[in-house]
Amino acid sequence: MSLLLNVDSLRKVYGQTKNEQTAVLEDVSFSLQRGEIVGLIGASGAGKSTVGRILASLEQQNAGTIWFDGSNLTGLTGKKRRVFAKDIQMIFQDPYDSLSSRMRISDLVEEPLLIQKSEKDLAKRRARVVEALELVSLDPKKYAMRYPHELSGGERQRIGVARALVCRPKLIVCDEPTSMLDASLRLELIQLLKKLNRKFGIAYLFITHDIALTKGFCSRLLVLYEGRIVDQGETDMVIEQPEHPFTIRMIKALKSLEHKKGELL
Ligand SMILES: Nc1ncnc2c1ncn2[C@@H]1O[C@H](COP(=O)(O)OP(=O)(O)OP(=O)(O)O)[C@@H](O)[C@H]1O
Ligand SMILES: [Mg+2]
Repeated sequence: MSLLLNVDSLRKVYGQTKNEQTAVLEDVSFSLQRGEIVGLIGASGAGKSTVGRILASLEQQNAGTIWFDGSNLTGLTGKKRRVFAKDIQMIFQDPYDSLSSRMRISDLVEEPLLIQKSEKDLAKRRARVVEALELVSLDPKKYAMRYPHELSGGERQRIGVARALVCRPKLIVCDEPTSMLDASLRLELIQLLKKLNRKFGIAYLFITHDIALTKGFCSRLLVLYEGRIVDQGETDMVIEQPEHPFTIRMIKALKSLEHKKGELL
């Protein structure tokens, strides 16, 4: 195993004036190996999506360093940052909200390549779009000219995955991508992510509230609480023998919730 990502002392403050300012992330540190699948869990509002958005270059941290693939991303802007931005993609919770309704599927999947300016040749871009659609098991002939509203929820989420894949990333931040899908589609998406992980060695930072789903999928879990990673370790260890009082409370609450839903952990 070799190191892909190292996040050190990440800090993020929201708010305009000094009085309004709150630090969502105080001091977040963790690392990810190449091809590793790591879960990020924590209460709602803990800052999980904020961590993801910073990694995917959608926001900037106030302090802290990010090393990725041997390079320090901290403070990089413009073209230099774009070189790495294509390597860290993100897929979102709501497959409808994250896709522009007026764009055809082929344009939606091509868009990240245009934004990243990573493939200038039109024919090659088209070929990449076809390849990405095929990888998520959507027949390009059937789907390329459709609009998002002409797709099912599961298919829309696959478009989200195709948009990430088309950039050939080394890491995908998955921000609760399964929470709006029903149980069978959830499983299908996990299987697809597993397949892509095996085929291309893509690493995932998998943000979720569903700890049952992390078993057998994530090799490690990180627990975010009050702006810090308070617990981390192998998935089964964190679930069965949590150490931090917050993790103990959270796992207990999630287990009883899942029990009520009829899904035994
Ligand atoms: N652009 C913003 N401006 C101000 N505050 C923000 C902004 N984005 C997020 N926040 C605040 O930062 C905190 C963390 O938000 P974040 O979306 O990262 O949480 P989360 O852990 O992903 O929560 P959830 O599980 O509900 O998705 C929240 O209190 C949120 O209100
Ligand atoms: Mg979130």
